[in-house]
Amino acid sequence: MPFQEIRQRFPLLLIIFTFLARFLSISGQHTPRYACDIDQNPSLKEFAFCNTSLDAKTRVGDLVKRMTLKEKVGSIVSVTDKIDRLGIPSYGWWSEALHGVSDTGSATWFNKSIVPGATSYPQVILTAASFNESLFYTIAKVVSNEARAMYNSGVAGLTFWSPNVNIFRDPRWGRGQETPGEDPVLTSRYGVAYVKGLQESEDGDKDRLKVGACCKHYTAYDLDNWTSVDRFHFNAIVTNQDLEDTYNPPFKSCVVEANASSIMCSFNKLNGKPTCGDKELLGDTVRGQWKLNGYISSDCDSLEVMFKDQRWEKTPEQVAADALNAGLDLNCGDSLKNFTENAVKKGLVNESVVDRAVTNNFVTLMRLGFFDGNPSKQIYGKLGKKDVCTQANQELAREAARQGLVLLKNSLGSLPLVSSYIKSLAVIGPNANATEAMIGNYAGVPCKYTSPLKGLSDSVKTLYELGCTDVKCASTEMFERAKNAAATADAVVLVMGTDLSIEREGFDRAEIDLPGQQNLLVSEVAYAARGPVILAIMSGGGMDVTLAKCNPKITSILWVGLPGQEGGGALADVVFGRYNPGGRLPMTWYPRSYAESVSMSNMNMRANASTGYPGRTYRFYRGEAVYPFGYGLSYSLYVHRLLKAPKHLSIPLNNTQTCSSSTCKSFNATGNVCNALSFDVDIMVTNIGQMSGSHTVMLFSYPPQVIYNSPHKQLLDFKKVRLGPWDRASVSFKIDVCKQMSVVDEDGNRRVALGQHILQIGDLKHSISLRI
Ligand SMILES: *[C@@H]1O[C@H](CO)[C@@H](O)[C@H](O)[C@H]1NC(C)=O
Ligand SMILES: *[C@@H]1O[C@H](CO)[C@@H](O)[C@H](O)[C@H]1NC(C)=O
Ligand SMILES: *[C@@H]1O[C@H](CO)[C@@H](O)[C@H](O)[C@H]1NC(C)=O
Ligand SMILES: *[C@@H]1O[C@H](CO)[C@@H](O)[C@H](O)[C@H]1NC(C)=O
Ligand SMILES: *[C@@H]1O[C@H](CO)[C@@H](O)[C@H](O)[C@H]1NC(C)=O
Ligand SMILES: *[C@@H]1O[C@H](CO)[C@@H](O)[C@H](O)[C@H]1NC(C)=O
Ligand SMILES: *[C@@H]1O[C@H](CO)[C@@H](O)[C@H](O)[C@H]1NC(C)=O
Ligand SMILES: *[C@@H]1O[C@H](CO)[C@@H](O)[C@H](O)[C@H]1NC(C)=O
Ligand SMILES: *[C@@H]1O[C@H](CO)[C@@H](O)[C@H](O)[C@H]1NC(C)=O
Ligand SMILES: *[C@@H]1O[C@H](CO)[C@@H](O)[C@H](O)[C@H]1NC(C)=O
Ligand SMILES: *[C@@H]1O[C@H](CO)[C@@H](O)[C@H](O)[C@H]1NC(C)=O
Repeated sequence: MPFQEIRQRFPLLLIIFTFLARFLSISGQHTPRYACDIDQNPSLKEFAFCNTSLDAKTRVGDLVKRMTLKEKVGSIVSVTDKIDRLGIPSYGWWSEALHGVSDTGSATWFNKSIVPGATSYPQVILTAASFNESLFYTIAKVVSNEARAMYNSGVAGLTFWSPNVNIFRDPRWGRGQETPGEDPVLTSRYGVAYVKGLQESEDGDKDRLKVGACCKHYTAYDLDNWTSVDRFHFNAIVTNQDLEDTYNPPFKSCVVEANASSIMCSFNKLNGKPTCGDKELLGDTVRGQWKLNGYISSDCDSLEVMFKDQRWEKTPEQVAADALNAGLDLNCGDSLKNFTENAVKKGLVNESVVDRAVTNNFVTLMRLGFFDGNPSKQIYGKLGKKDVCTQANQELAREAARQGLVLLKNSLGSLPLVSSYIKSLAVIGPNANATEAMIGNYAGVPCKYTSPLKGLSDSVKTLYELGCTDVKCASTEMFERAKNAAATADAVVLVMGTDLSIEREGFDRAEIDLPGQQNLLVSEVAYAARGPVILAIMSGGGMDVTLAKCNPKITSILWVGLPGQEGGGALADVVFGRYNPGGRLPMTWYPRSYAESVSMSNMNMRANASTGYPGRTYRFYRGEAVYPFGYGLSYSLYVHRLLKAPKHLSIPLNNTQTCSSSTCKSFNATGNVCNALSFDVDIMVTNIGQMSGSHTVMLFSYPPQVIYNSPHKQLLDFKKVRLGPWDRASVSFKIDVCKQMSVVDEDGNRRVALGQHILQIGDLKHSISLRI
């Protein structure tokens, strides 16, 4: 039937149809938000900012010129004001995708009839334990697909405030689970891979973003709520040395190497100044030195925290002006919307500064295609609900958990269990049937859960006992039942540890033992058991598991982190030998005394002999560890043999330069001499076990102690190789001397020490002498 005829015969139907179409697109439930909808409003064609053949800079310049001050201040907050006359809808900046698309941010939500859930990958600390950069990248890429699919469905934004690249410097930190651990090199590598995976445009155009990533929380955050200190009042006292060699490197890498579209400043003060109002940190460093290509956002709402909690300035207008003048572009919250107009009128901040902020924000949205009209006609337009929670995406969640799981103890090769001998398995503990506990902080709604009990029950007959009602394990009431199960079964898997009631955002641990009576349950069950006893620790932070480590009845210990929605399947794969574990701890596991004697608010990385402060992380802490950074066993054994590494390295420095060969002990790691100053280390790795497996080769160095307070050991590089039984492979490292072998001096300058550097790979040690 021709259209004319329909219009004549069913006028009402047409009205209803038109109304419905309009309603659905305007209410935004099923369609994404976007600007420059030329199909609906052809007059928008007149605006140069809607012209996709112009570059983003020109377009945003045109847009900002057209905006009033009121419209501008409504565009620098996390829920922006719509500007109807310019065809710009309200945009929600705050989405999260730390380990899967999450509904923690207000711009993303799940809805049974639209997108009910998204794939929930292991919490970052466990993924980091895989030391597999291509895994980090692959997860982020899949997450960005699900994110775009959700944006297209009208239930997510395009800007995701992930990853968290703060250093996990204290085991009690409730958000340590969100980070890639305690090492600045690993954390930087994780951040770079994750940001690239989220952002990289599939058409290879470097100016375009698939989704926007954000590295947070800049900087020296690392404490949420510990005894009487909370993050809103915490003043982190940090030396230049620690800032430059520990807290800042991951942020620098995010910007310089990964081109992250955003950095978020933190709640805390750094050396007396709120980070979001610190021009040296934002304008000078992130924007100036690192050349951020994107926007700097506040935390939610750190400006209000500056005014109300930190009493930073007398008026909220002055706080708004300070933040904008420092280099802030976007405010999570509404402080900037409320107070910027007056701040401009009072002369506290110039309108040109507001223009800079609007420009940085809108350029980012332009690179995301937000100003290019209907996204269904664009590169990701085909992604939708069907691309979320696919079988492959969920399988990757299981794979990631398997790759991260760390085997900490395995006496007499009790693992893997041989299914033909193990006819029944007691699965015991408050996390044995864990679901939500597996996904941790900043999770969304997962597609489904495979709990440990479910995963193990798929392989063998199980007897399930809680042991304690919850992870706090206050009572021993249910111990008898658990012991009986252990005594009956051929083997026992205990799944203990924490959940968000013990460690989470806003809540740090007071102690690092297994909570409540968990240790007692573990030892009583182990005593009653007649077969092998496998202790699985589910946690974000490290635990003092000395009792279990020393108990001969406990034959194996596994750290499963917070393993994501498929965590139980991954655990079963490892327990039954379908997967050979190869994860390594991304953080030191300290003894309980550490938490008893060290103040969490002490930000110093370096030890201090005069106060008895032991220092932090494997780079500075020389005390006993329950399990050290980088620790992790396999069902195979790997041996390393050195193929090639220099014994000496001559640094082509002139006498005319500040360093003369007789008195000089170190040289500036940013000078010309650094160009092409590198060497190769080649090693042969052989799997001498009977199972194929993936092995992480970590290259550490012990620098000569020439520069005051140098780390005693540091990770230079790592690579992962997959090897069949009796397979071998050569692994090559190219070491950039200035970038990788340098240390930071007390003034915060990077220098390379001359003298003997010891390289270490596994049991292998090699000395290399640097001289002029
Ligand atoms: C968009 O910009 C291009 C390049 O300057 C120009 O040729 C074209 O006419 C513009 N389109 C419109 C609709 O103004
Ligand atoms: C989910 O979306 C449907 C369709 O738009 C809507 O009717 C319903 O109210 C939404 N439910 C929730 C909980 O938001
Ligand atoms: C690293 O992860 C990727 C993605 O899962 C995987 O294909 C690869 O085999 C892993 N590398 C090693 C050496 O295990
Ligand atoms: C970083 O992003 C900008 C886009 O604004 C692009 O021009 C530049 O090529 C990117 N750099 C790299 C190294 O990808
Ligand atoms: C910190 O913890 C204390 C005690 O648990 C609680 O009363 C307080 O509200 C918390 N503060 C913040 C900012 O979360
Ligand atoms: C901003 O103004 C709104 C509306 O008056 C108010 O609800 C909100 O609390 C204000 N926010 C701040 C940080 O002052
Ligand atoms: C505003 O700009 C003028 C001219 O560049 C400058 O003199 C003044 O200091 C600026 N005001 C503020 C608050 O930065
Ligand atoms: C395990 O947890 C799931 C989901 O919470 C629940 O449905 C199931 O009944 C639990 N299994 C047992 C044996 O308690
Ligand atoms: C060690 O602590 C003492 C006493 O607080 C202090 O004076 C000294 O500066 C500290 N040394 C270092 C290297 O931080
Ligand atoms: C050494 O000094 C000479 C002359 O001053 C200069 O040409 C040369 O570039 C210097 N070499 C390095 C590595 O700086
Ligand atoms: C190190 O060298 C760079 C580049 O030559 C120079 O800018 C910097 O000031 C030097 N730093 C020190 C501490 O000498």
